[in-house]
Amino acid sequence: MKRIGVLTSGGDAPGMNAAIRAVVLTANAAELEVVGFEYGYNGILERQYLTLTPYHVNHLIQHGGTVLKSARCQAMFSDDGVKQVAAVLHELAIDALVLIGGDGTFRGAVQLSQHYQGALMGVPGTIDNDVDGTDFTIGFHTAVDTALDAIDKIRDTADAFERIFLVEVMGRHTGYLAVAAGIAAGAEQIICPELASELDTAKILQHIRNAQQHRGRCSYLIVLAETMYPGGAAALALELERQGVECRASVLGHIQRGGRPVGADRILATKLGAYAVEQLLQGAHLMMAGEVNAQATLYPLIKTGDKQKKVDQYLLNWQQQVAQY
Ligand code: F6P
Repeated sequence: MKRIGVLTSGGDAPGMNAAIRAVVLTANAAELEVVGFEYGYNGILERQYLTLTPYHVNHLIQHGGTVLKSARCQAMFSDDGVKQVAAVLHELAIDALVLIGGDGTFRGAVQLSQHYQGALMGVPGTIDNDVDGTDFTIGFHTAVDTALDAIDKIRDTADAFERIFLVEVMGRHTGYLAVAAGIAAGAEQIICPELASELDTAKILQHIRNAQQHRGRCSYLIVLAETMYPGGAAALALELERQGVECRASVLGHIQRGGRPVGADRILATKLGAYAVEQLLQGAHLMMAGEVNAQATLYPLIKTGDKQKKVDQYLLNWQQQVAQY
C-alpha cells in the first residue's frame, strides 16, 4: 500500500478535522502518501484533491467544520456514478480510501466496494450518533454541549417568566441528541422517536398540567427531537397554544454542527483516525473503525446502519419516572 485517500462526507461534525489530522500523521509515519478529496465523494468525481502532508494538518485539531469540506453526492445513488468514482480512484492509484462520515457515507462505500479494487475504511463522524458498531460518533459530545449551552440559557429566561419552552434539537431520525441534551439539561419532558413513534399532544398537555399542579407556576422545558412533529417545534407550540397552553419554541438547528470540538471528540477522532490507517495496513477492508467500551474496534461497514444501538433506556426511564416534575 502506497497511496491512500481521505474524505469527509455528509453532515459535518466537530472533530472531523482532528480525524483528518490523525489519518495524515499516521499515514505519514508509515510512509504512505495521503490524497485529500474535497466535498466528499464529489471531490473524486470532479478530481478536486490535494496531497496532504503533516504541514497541512498542523494546529488543525481544535477547529470545527472540515478543511476537506463536505457534501452529499447525488451521483452515489446511481450505479453509473459509483462506477465513475471507482474508475477515478483506480486512475489515481488510490490503494485505500478512508471515509469520515455517517451511515449515508458508509452506504455509499458499500456500493463502491462492488466496483473498486482498493480497501475501504469508515470513521464515524456525525453529531447524530446514529451509527452501529461504536459507542459514540465523532462530533456527538460537542453537539450535546452546544445544545446544553443554549438550553441552559433558555432555562434562565424560562425561569424568569415561568414559561413553557419547546426546544428542538437535531438527530435526524434518532433521539440520541435529544435524550443526552434533555437529561443533562434537566428537561421536564423529552420527546424522541425511541419513546413513541407518534407524538400525542394530549399526553404532553397532561404532563404540563401535572407539573403545574405539583409545583405551581414554574419554567418547564420540553426537548423535542426533530422530525417528531410536522412543521417542528414552532408548529407544535402553535398547536399547544391552540389547546390552551402558552409556550415558546426554539429551534437550535445548525448551531449544533459547529464550534470547537470538545476534548472527548478530539480524543475519539485521534484514536479512530489512527486506528483506521493502522488497520488498513493490516489488510482490513470494508470495515469501520469504532470504539466500544473504550477499545478501538472494527465493525463491518455493511452493518453500521442496522439501527441496533439503543438510546440510554435507563436514564430515559429515570427521567420519565423520577425527574419529570
Ligand atoms: O446528520 C447531521 C444532521 O445535522 C442531522 O442532525 C440533520 O437532520 C441533518 O444533518 C441536516 O442536514 P442539512 O445540513 O442538509 O440540512
